[in-house]
Formats: sequence, C-alpha cells, structure tokens
Amino acid sequence: MLAGVLPGIGLANASPAKRRVPFGAALEYRHFINDPDYTALFVNHCDMIFPMNALKWDALQGAPGEFNYLPAEGIVSFAETLGRGTYGHTFVWWNALPAWVEKIDSAAKAEEVLVSHVQNVAAHFAARVPSWDVVNEVVAHDPVNEGPWRDSLWMRLLGPSHVDIAFAAAAEAAPGAELAINDYDLEFRGARYDARRTAMLDLVRRLQDKGLRVDTVGIQGHLYPEVPIGHEELERFITDLKALGVGYRITEIDVIDWKLPRDASRRDDMAAEHVGNFLDAAFSAELPRSVSTWGLSDRYSWIPDVMPHRRGGKNRPLPFDENLKPKPMYEVIQRYLAS
Ligand code: XIL
Repeated sequence: MLAGVLPGIGLANASPAKRRVPFGAALEYRHFINDPDYTALFVNHCDMIFPMNALKWDALQGAPGEFNYLPAEGIVSFAETLGRGTYGHTFVWWNALPAWVEKIDSAAKAEEVLVSHVQNVAAHFAARVPSWDVVNEVVAHDPVNEGPWRDSLWMRLLGPSHVDIAFAAAAEAAPGAELAINDYDLEFRGARYDARRTAMLDLVRRLQDKGLRVDTVGIQGHLYPEVPIGHEELERFITDLKALGVGYRITEIDVIDWKLPRDASRRDDMAAEHVGNFLDAAFSAELPRSVSTWGLSDRYSWIPDVMPHRRGGKNRPLPFDENLKPKPMYEVIQRYLAS
C-alpha cells in the first residue's frame, strides 16, 4: 500500500526524531491521495497523522444511515501502517453537517441521530482511534455578550444537554478512548478570552458533576500575531484543568498572518516568534499530550480562504513553505518538543 501511495518513500527513512511530546498534523484526504510529496512530509515529520475533514459528520454520514468510511479509513490505516498515532476529529460540531441533519426539527430526533452517529463511528474504529474530539467549538465566540454556549443546530434542539448526550454516548461506545473538548481562542489576553476560558472550565465541571468523563481539552492554537498571548492566563487555565484531572493537547496550530508585513522572511520570523510565545506559556504550565498543526505546508491551508493576506501576499500559516521546506516555525516547534 505504501509503495502505491508514496513512490520512492520506504519505511527505513520514515521514522521521525524522538520527541518528548508527539508532533502531529491534520491531513486532508484529497491531498493525501493526489500529492505524494506532500504526504511524504507527514511520513518524515509526524508522530501522529490524522484526518482533517474525513471524520466530520458530512464526510461520514452524508445520507441517513449511509456511512462512507473510505477516506477516514485510508488515513487511519496509513498512520497505523507507519506505526504512528492518529486522532478523531470530531463527533459534534456546529459546522460540516449534511442537509438532512440541518433539517431535523425535534429534540427526540436530534438525540437519536446524534447517539447513533457516535455509536456507529466509534464502533467502526474501535480502539484504532485512541482519542476523540467529542465536541468541537461549543463555547460561544463571545461569551460576554452571547454566552456561554455557541449557537448550533444541537443547541437549538437540545440545549447544553447535547454535550452531555455526546459524552455519555462516546464513553459507552469508545470506553477505552480519550475523550476531549476542542476549542479556539483559549490562549489570548483580553476579556473575551478570559470569558472563553471560564466557559470551558465551567463546561468541564458541568460534565464531571454529571459523572461524565472528560480526559483532555484541545487548545486549537489558531494564532493571530496581532493578539498577544496571555502568558499567565494560559498557564492558569492549564493549571486549573489539571486540578480538575484534565490534561490538554495543542490541536490545530497555524498562524493567521493576514495583517503581517508582505516580506516573506520577516513574516515567517514573526509567525515563528508568536508560536514560540504560545508554546512557552503552555509548556510552562504542563507538557501537552501532543502538539499538532492544521496541515503541514503552506501549499494547503484553510487560512487563504477565510483570512487572506491583506497586502496581497500569499498566506504562510504553517511550519513548511509551499515547496515543502521547513520554516523558522518548524524549528521553534521542534525545540519545544525535543527530548
Ligand atoms: C476546516 C478545514 O481545514 C477546511 O478544510 C474545511 O473546509 C473547514 O474546516 N477549526 C476546526 C477545524 O476545528 O475543523 C476547521 O477545519 C478549522 C477551524
């Protein structure tokens, strides 16, 4: 299988450096299949390789009861074949819902569909996917004004209990798996970010009070260099999670460089410095269980689609450039991960 997907890449040269914290990246199925040089970058640098979109609801269950596991299966078995870790993103999200789910209009139906989706997907992968983002982005964007929960189909039909339902279903269907809550904007300084951290801690306590197991919080790490990292705030947040018996992962690093200067090497240096500030704050509290980036090379990223560079540059959000050469960001991340 490897020879077919990666001509010229053997297992012998495919073992990344030993690290104290594993390094991973999200891989989009389309590029996995079509771009062997890009996929080889994952082979050469990642301890964890996981689907970027193939485990989202619309990719898995586009029609009721019809599951398409092929793309996710491709990436999960690829990681397995290489002896790498993987990660499950995600059961419950406000986005990536197929039209038939968007049309659900009763609480009973929403609960039934949610539980059966979690059961089916968790059972399919069983122990092969050791960790799941049970819920993704359920904290309100701005909990000060619209909080604490983010609007979604699940919130409208089931209220906050949809999170409890998802965690209960996941604990039952994937008893050995790590169960996570993943979210963004947890690392910056400012009132909105304080409120997001508070909402996340409240959510963890809520689940625990109901006897539900939460193992980790995923700090996505989509970083805006114009927004300062809250060093003490992030340290405190991770320490508070630890006091609740909850660990953390850094799950989706990239740098939203839309407002940075056009000059590529200045931009890369500033992005690397910002990632360093973020890792410095997080690591000074406790080591994460893993650090992952959202993609690996500037060749493919969601950032140009949603937050294009404002001065006409091409976005450079990731650790490798579009020619698959390492950038200063890669060196900075590896410095933190090295044993
Ligand atoms: C993004 C993917 O990168 C895109 O390819 C897709 O079109 C939309 O989703 N936070 C998340 C990820 O948790 O799932 C999102 O991924 C990026 C933001």
